[in-house]
Amino acid sequence: MLIISIAIDENKGIGYKGQLPWHLKEELAIFKKNTIGKNIVMGQTTYDNLPRRLKDRHTVIVSADKNYTTDDPEAEVTYDLISFLKEHENDEEEYIICGGASIYRQSYKYCRKAYISFVKGSHEVDAWFDTFEMEDWNVVRKEEYEDFIYTELERKKSIFVTGCTGYIGSHTCVELLSSGFRVIGLDNFSNSKPEVLDKVKQITGKEIKFYEGNMLNRELLEKIFGENRIDAVIDFAAYKAVGDSVRKPVEYYTNNVSSVLTLLSVMKEYNVKGIVFSSSATVYGDKNPVPYDETMPIGNTTNPYGTSKVFVEKILKDLYDSDNSFNVCVLRYFNPIGAHESGLIGEEPNGIPANLMPYITKVANGELDHLNIFGNDYPTPDGTGVRDYIHVVDLAKAHVLGVNKIIGRKGGYLVYNLGTGHGYSVLDIVNAYMKVNNVNIPYVIAPRRAGDIAECYANAAKAKEELGWQAELTLEDMCRSSHKFIMSLRNKGE
Ligand code: UFG
Repeated sequence: MLIISIAIDENKGIGYKGQLPWHLKEELAIFKKNTIGKNIVMGQTTYDNLPRRLKDRHTVIVSADKNYTTDDPEAEVTYDLISFLKEHENDEEEYIICGGASIYRQSYKYCRKAYISFVKGSHEVDAWFDTFEMEDWNVVRKEEYEDFIYTELERKKSIFVTGCTGYIGSHTCVELLSSGFRVIGLDNFSNSKPEVLDKVKQITGKEIKFYEGNMLNRELLEKIFGENRIDAVIDFAAYKAVGDSVRKPVEYYTNNVSSVLTLLSVMKEYNVKGIVFSSSATVYGDKNPVPYDETMPIGNTTNPYGTSKVFVEKILKDLYDSDNSFNVCVLRYFNPIGAHESGLIGEEPNGIPANLMPYITKVANGELDHLNIFGNDYPTPDGTGVRDYIHVVDLAKAHVLGVNKIIGRKGGYLVYNLGTGHGYSVLDIVNAYMKVNNVNIPYVIAPRRAGDIAECYANAAKAKEELGWQAELTLEDMCRSSHKFIMSLRNKGE
């Protein structure tokens, strides 16, 4: 929950002096009744001016501040806000308060994690309550103050997305752009195509501010951070083929670990302290029992790709331990499949696919003649491997929630599983794909693949509870959209 309090300052003679932008005391009475600690109803003008994503997602409290008398409704609202904050003093929540000075004097001590933004003179100031000298604040002129509130609330937050044209990166960019974020993207097209940028624009009507290059290139990162006011980073850029990683460990560790160190060091330099990291269920290794939950130890990975994800998680944790003002959100993906419903973006690996769904789609479109099912003698209901398949669009939406969770927060280290909590076998997937798309997928049973485990699925409760996220799309949606994407590529001859 994010609480925004828009405070009206008494302003020592200038400014509102008791006039509220929404004027009506009656409205304040309504605020008081409907706002404190709830999703809100507030002054119509103010409410209309708030961006949708704030209205949808956050609890917003409007408050007023004056030299209170008990019959002053503004004062009552403020007092209620303060008692609300006091009651929730020990919550893990963040409180954002925008507005004039006096409100802070009243409420700051209850907002341990509060972050403030306001206008001081002609300068916009961001500060944490516990680091700012309260008594120093200047009075803010009404116009600046009003402008400030709306500008700050409506200012599009900018997210730097590494690996923005990849499979999960591109779907996440679509969701970010559709949710009102600006996206600054980086990719070197090592496993994606430049056309994805146009397709994202076709879907959203909005453009990624794109930089081509490698995340190991520190100068390029410095240029990007220098040219953009970045609010948070989502780091997707990595190699991800398990088999390849066994053959090329040095390349994998360089690309997946060294590059993150470069990124983190530039983030530190530019004081950007929010990062959502693309991790994997593979970090649970082969010793934990299913379903995996976030409290389980990580490690015992069976290949350098998996180990690279464990290393980065540990680096991020060490970073957070060294500086608690960092906001880290680690997302552990289970098995993302499916494609955007437009059929414009989806998974397009180079060469023969290593993963199940891209392989099935290439059998479906005739590029490959049959699927090899790796083992039918696992201790699972039908003997084939069981995984937690999750629609990539659901996954992408979780990133938007992850970013919303960390932006403006004072600091935290969060880890979430992103899965459905439900396992399907290889045969379940093949059968669903054939049925939904009315195609035949010939298959043969082949020997087990080295390094595979029988079952892997998530306990997905924590993401539901804390991020308010759960997978909504079905296995049928995953099979239908994957097929639509591969067939649209074939039709366009791509
Ligand atoms: N499978 C086949 N035939 C194929 C490909 C896969 O039968 O041609 C089977 C596998 O044996 C497994 C299931 O389909 O039982 C899923 O295999 P994938 O390769 O699609 O996915 P994995 O579960 O092996 O790996 C995926 C990601 C990894 C990640 C891991 C986390 O590819 O990056 O999930 O558990 F680390």
